[in-house]
Amino acid sequence: MTTDQEYREELRVAGGTTMGVLWAAPAGGPGAADGAEGLRLRAEELLAEHGAVMIHGLGIADAEEFHAAVDRFGDRLIRSYRGGNTPRVAVSDGVFTSTEYPARFEISLHNELSYAHSWPRRLFFGCLLAAETGGATPVCDGAALLAALDPELRARFAAGVTYRQYLHGGYGLGKSWQATFETEDRVEVEGFLRESEAEFAWTPEGGLRVIQHRQGILEHPVTGRPVWFNQADQWHPSNLPEGEAGTLLSLIDSTDDLPHWVTYRDGSPIPDEDLAKVREAARRHRLSVPWQDGSLLVVDNLRVLHGREAYTGARRVLVSMT
Ligand SMILES: [Fe+2]
Repeated sequence: MTTDQEYREELRVAGGTTMGVLWAAPAGGPGAADGAEGLRLRAEELLAEHGAVMIHGLGIADAEEFHAAVDRFGDRLIRSYRGGNTPRVAVSDGVFTSTEYPARFEISLHNELSYAHSWPRRLFFGCLLAAETGGATPVCDGAALLAALDPELRARFAAGVTYRQYLHGGYGLGKSWQATFETEDRVEVEGFLRESEAEFAWTPEGGLRVIQHRQGILEHPVTGRPVWFNQADQWHPSNLPEGEAGTLLSLIDSTDDLPHWVTYRDGSPIPDEDLAKVREAARRHRLSVPWQDGSLLVVDNLRVLHGREAYTGARRVLVSMT
């Protein structure tokens, strides 16, 4: 058995973002039976080198097979998406649907849960069914993004960002606090928020305000390189589709009542122009490798941002986090 019977390999590059792409040997073909471990080890190497690896030809057809493919990497799965601010459905233990967000919109590049107190190190995406058009999971190297920003802008983000949420108690814009924290129990929510080092206050209407001071830039624990690590652009009204920001802001009395928004660490507003520069840098370094049915994408969440292209047709992509 030789290496090229186990898998084929290719390197994809866009700007400062690189990704290893592997093709598993066809089931029943030469190398397939013994190749799984070699393939996984190579995937680990490519992950260490590039922060992202796509593996085609795994034939992942359902949540169980996805779970098994993820399991081979041996990391412990994160079982709950509690505190997350996007709609998601738990498929099985530690397996989630990717964000349920209308197909016609793209999801901008971001680091998963970078607004939270703790975050996943790795993300696993499994494609059960690729979209008819679009629907790729683009990625962007966080160090390349950061290096593309001017020093003044970098310094503003280096000081940190403050995420602000208004979670209604059952009726209103965005997600309720009950849905966000997966409980009706206020004491439980308070315990979770204290543990998360978040500031919070209940409102007389039964809603909940949450304030979280978090990092804008992170030193990668393995490479030591500074990387972009925040979701300021996603939490900002300027991220909403054309026209929606104006509509949303006209429905509420103050930005405090937005389901979520964000400022610089000291509370000063983040100007649209700052975020336009961030989005432009992310676009310049964005790498998009189309999905194939049955493929697995592994991403180092601290090093590499991910997003979702708009798409047509049915699309089923599952996610696990470790
Ligand atoms: Fe995500």
